[in-house]
Amino acid sequence: MRAAPGTLATARLVLRTPRPGDADAIFASYASDPEATRYMGWPRHAAVTASHAYVALALAEWDTHGCGTYLIERDGQLIGSTGLHLLGPVGAATGYILTPAAWGHGYATEACRAMLALGRDLGVPRIEATCHTAHRASARVLEKAGLVREGVRRADTVFPQLGAQLQDVLVYAWSG
Ligand SMILES: CC(C)(COP(=O)(O)OP(=O)(O)OC[C@H]1O[C@@H](n2cnc3c(N)ncnc32)[C@H](O)[C@@H]1OP(=O)(O)O)[C@@H](O)C(=O)NCCC(=O)NCCS
Repeated sequence: MRAAPGTLATARLVLRTPRPGDADAIFASYASDPEATRYMGWPRHAAVTASHAYVALALAEWDTHGCGTYLIERDGQLIGSTGLHLLGPVGAATGYILTPAAWGHGYATEACRAMLALGRDLGVPRIEATCHTAHRASARVLEKAGLVREGVRRADTVFPQLGAQLQDVLVYAWSG
């Protein structure tokens, strides 16, 4: 599969690959925010060193797969991230997180649609996304973007901000 473009533009957003210098802004914008990280499958960043480690992993993913995390900018400000994470021949996974000040403007839906369009361009056969069964805003984003709800996976994912137990998730998928 050919590599994905390093920058994508939507009507209102610029999506671009991370750079090592982005760690401070990632930490301040969303990765350390308790509201933004509540339903994420990774631990909230307690120190900026965690954001540096995250950027290093994101760069390694791009090196290996030619695709991965995109940071989301609006008017030159970092407001969140999304991505297309290749899972081998079965397809890819996507997701998103925005700083709370950017919620409610349709940006997550716009970013998610861009990831589906990218998947189509790259010939990815299936893109999957999951969210906590109580996360109505995220489920709505996935539906607006054009993914189809396939069901519930029971005891599937640990959401570190909600505790150590496995939680049920809604499974959504898009296939070109
Ligand atoms: C979830 C999140 C990405 C949504 O981003 P956003 O840019 O505000 O989303 P959009 O504006 O594109 O759409 C949100 C939709 O959810 C709806 N919504 C918001 N809160 C809701 C709630 N509590 N119950 C039901 N629907 C809700 C909105 O009304 C909107 O739908 P509409 O256009 O039909 O009115 C954002 O809140 C976020 O970053 N949260 C933290 C990170 C996160 O949880 N990521 C997802 C992990 S699975």
